[in-house]
Amino acid sequence: MLSTTHLLTAVLAGSSVAHAAYSIASESDIKTSAKQLAADLMAYYHGDDYGGIPGILPGPPPNGDYYWWEGGALWGTMIDYWHLTGDTTYNNVTKEAMLFQVGPQDNYEPPNVTASLGNDDQGFWGMSAMLAAENNFENPPDDQPQWLALAQAVFNRQASPDRHDDTCGGGLRWQIPLSNNGYNYKNSIANGCFFNLGARLARYTKNETYAMWAEKTWNWVTSVGLMDADYNIYDGAHVEKNCTDINKAQFSYNNAVYLLGAAYMYNYTNGSDVWKQRTSDLLNATINVFFPNHIAYEVACEQGKTCTTDMLSFKGYLHRWMATATRVAPFIRGTVMDVLKTSTEAAVKQCTGGDTGRVCGFQWSSGVYDGTYGAGQQMNVLGAVSSLLIDNVAAPVSNDTGGTSVGNPNAGGNDDNINKPTSPPTTADKAGASILTILVLGCAVGTFGWMSLGA
Ligand SMILES: *[C@@H]1O[C@H](CO)[C@@H](O)[C@H](O)[C@H]1NC(C)=O
Ligand SMILES: *[C@@H]1O[C@H](CO)[C@@H](O)[C@H](O)[C@H]1NC(C)=O
Ligand SMILES: *[C@@H]1O[C@H](CO)[C@@H](O)[C@H](O)[C@H]1NC(C)=O
Ligand SMILES: *[C@@H]1O[C@H](CO)[C@@H](O)[C@H](O)[C@H]1NC(C)=O
Ligand SMILES: *[C@@H]1O[C@H](CO)[C@@H](O)[C@H](O)[C@H]1NC(C)=O
Ligand SMILES: *[C@@H]1O[C@H](CO)[C@@H](O)[C@H](O)[C@H]1NC(C)=O
Ligand SMILES: *[C@@H]1O[C@H](CO)[C@@H](O)[C@H](O)[C@H]1NC(C)=O
Ligand SMILES: *[C@@H]1O[C@H](CO)[C@@H](O)[C@H](O)[C@H]1NC(C)=O
Repeated sequence: MLSTTHLLTAVLAGSSVAHAAYSIASESDIKTSAKQLAADLMAYYHGDDYGGIPGILPGPPPNGDYYWWEGGALWGTMIDYWHLTGDTTYNNVTKEAMLFQVGPQDNYEPPNVTASLGNDDQGFWGMSAMLAAENNFENPPDDQPQWLALAQAVFNRQASPDRHDDTCGGGLRWQIPLSNNGYNYKNSIANGCFFNLGARLARYTKNETYAMWAEKTWNWVTSVGLMDADYNIYDGAHVEKNCTDINKAQFSYNNAVYLLGAAYMYNYTNGSDVWKQRTSDLLNATINVFFPNHIAYEVACEQGKTCTTDMLSFKGYLHRWMATATRVAPFIRGTVMDVLKTSTEAAVKQCTGGDTGRVCGFQWSSGVYDGTYGAGQQMNVLGAVSSLLIDNVAAPVSNDTGGTSVGNPNAGGNDDNINKPTSPPTTADKAGASILTILVLGCAVGTFGWMSLGA
């Protein structure tokens, strides 16, 4: 917790006193800064405390600020932290956390989270498992599920016919169980995680089926207008309207997840013109929308200070995934790293909060600490700082370039944890679903985009 007294002192003493705690002037400064940022981030994690639950940040609300998916996002950040800096301090806790949350079918559908389980939530854990395989993160013991197989399990679950219906001409719904609020919404992040995973599995395994799904998903997202001709990516739309009621809020994690997937498709297709163009155009749009003055800015919520806990973590994925994209699509390297460096300079400059004088806020472009704090804010700056080392480390591996993770193309299990109708819905089910629809549609435009995030 922050001490108000200290904050007041800092304010009274004038901003000249609150000089930056972090330097990114050299490789060694970057590592020193990243190490402290990682320690401050991990202070939010209590999964290993007595009575704690391994894998998750305190939550979900009302028990704490963080939804289940953000744990998955945290471990991806820590796997990159290790890969980029070589610091193994958190490897054991990361491995334990990633394995604790797999659920009984080793597919990141633990029964006690299905009541709010979205394809995006599951996707974040799946992408972190994929990252572990690509970074050659230490493999789990043989009797435990393996990183690649976990990523394939998530992919297979999301590719299964019961998650793809004809409303809106295809695509994944946001929520997985029929009874969840948001089952009637098809959104960019759910489909983006699936696209990203498909592209990366294609490159890792050379199995064309994954690439076909990635292509199909990209085509659907563009055909329905969730991504427009100028590469703006919008939040989502409702199945009752055949996805014509597009919620136009734009969030940086959508651009990041599609950009990284497009870069992998570029690489998988041996540098095809189609994917080169898409990667380059999406990068241009991403910089235009989310990096005014080359500093990361969460355009839908930052100015009005309406970003939710979920949204307060997006800048970290943006930085990390843009950086990783340069390793599989080297032609974007110069453009990306110029922007990321400027943005990271702004990020560290505002980390002057709290008793320690090094707590990070969210409003990077303001130049001063904004008084907020949380795992998201810390994770963002850690992701930005550590990603500056991207040129120093190995590119993501694949099965034929040194990858050691053992896969299972048939991983994934079945629907046992999910309350899908096994027979045509009964009248009672229909009534329940339509009441939900009315409730959701009732508050749809404007606010629904917020609900579509994580949760
Ligand atoms: C990680 O766990 C292994 C095996 O339990 C142990 O040998 C090692 O010392 C641990 N490493 C750290 C950094 O805690
Ligand atoms: C979810 O289930 C796991 C495994 O049974 C348990 O350890 C954990 O405490 C549960 N989490 C919550 C939030 O109840
Ligand atoms: C629903 O949307 C899909 C995708 O945009 C389109 O192909 C289909 O024709 C639409 N259906 C109706 C009934 O409008
Ligand atoms: C390729 O992936 C598909 C989809 O998961 C799977 O059904 C198939 O068995 C895989 N092929 C090989 C050769 O592994
Ligand atoms: C990429 O090139 C390799 C080597 O020439 C080839 O085996 C592979 O099929 C190509 N991949 C695609 C998707 O065209
Ligand atoms: C694909 O990625 C590798 C790094 O793994 C890189 O060396 C190669 O140049 C990339 N291919 C293209 C076409 O850029
Ligand atoms: C980048 O985006 C801007 C704004 O949409 C557009 O005017 C410009 O032509 C784009 N540049 C490239 C190289 O695509
Ligand atoms: C991955 O590579 C190993 C050898 O390193 C090979 O035995 C295995 O068949 C490969 N797996 C796939 C899916 O190609």
